[in-house]
Amino acid sequence: MLQTPRLILRGWQPSDREPFARLNADPEVMKYFPATLSRQESDELIERIESHRQTHNFCFWAVEERSTGAFIGFIGLKVPAFEAHFTPTVEVGWRLAKEFWGKGYATEGAKEAIRYGFETIGLNEIVSFTAQINLRSIAVMKRLGMTHNQADDFNHPSLPSGHPLQRHVFFRIQSHA
Ligand SMILES: CC(C)(COP(=O)(O)OP(=O)(O)OC[C@H]1O[C@@H](n2cnc3c(N)ncnc32)[C@H](O)[C@@H]1OP(=O)(O)O)[C@@H](O)C(=O)NCCC(=O)NCCS
Repeated sequence: MLQTPRLILRGWQPSDREPFARLNADPEVMKYFPATLSRQESDELIERIESHRQTHNFCFWAVEERSTGAFIGFIGLKVPAFEAHFTPTVEVGWRLAKEFWGKGYATEGAKEAIRYGFETIGLNEIVSFTAQINLRSIAVMKRLGMTHNQADDFNHPSLPSGHPLQRHVFFRIQSHA
């Protein structure tokens, strides 16, 4: 379990399934993904995240707001499952329910995930990527101090050619240890 002043990043609990399904069914949260998720798809995503945690000992953790105990989404680290010019690598990622945007939570939680990645896992570099039109997510990457080199941008291999979300920006941050 990881903690920040306002958040807890922890393993997934059965009670997270319902609010996670609601968040994954929200077209605004899922605007930069190919589709919203059904309840079953959302539950399957939790299972894939859990299985990633069993393999790697880190994952996209469930995030709880400390002041209320509410489940607000996920923030964490993941080994991307596709091949690209920068893989294998570890990415930092986030997805929060709309009512928890605009509070600095994504940046606060991701900072802690990156600290854990560098100090505890011993990574030298952590990356992040998103559809080039996902400006909110790109703003988080910039706030985290991640750097962007246009030459690293790529077409996501899971999306068909010409898909509006295909072009992805690529950011990275290095450990200074
Ligand atoms: C991407 C996402 C996590 C960004 O959330 P966010 O709330 O905009 O990002 P942050 O947590 O960094 O919050 C920053 C905002 O909180 C505001 N804020 C308010 N109180 C704050 C505080 N105490 N500390 C820091 N920022 C604060 C900032 O001013 C900023 O507001 P702005 O957007 O008006 O400039 C969110 O939009 C999301 O979940 N999107 C859907 C999923 C997604 O696209 N994920 C990425 C796919 S790769």
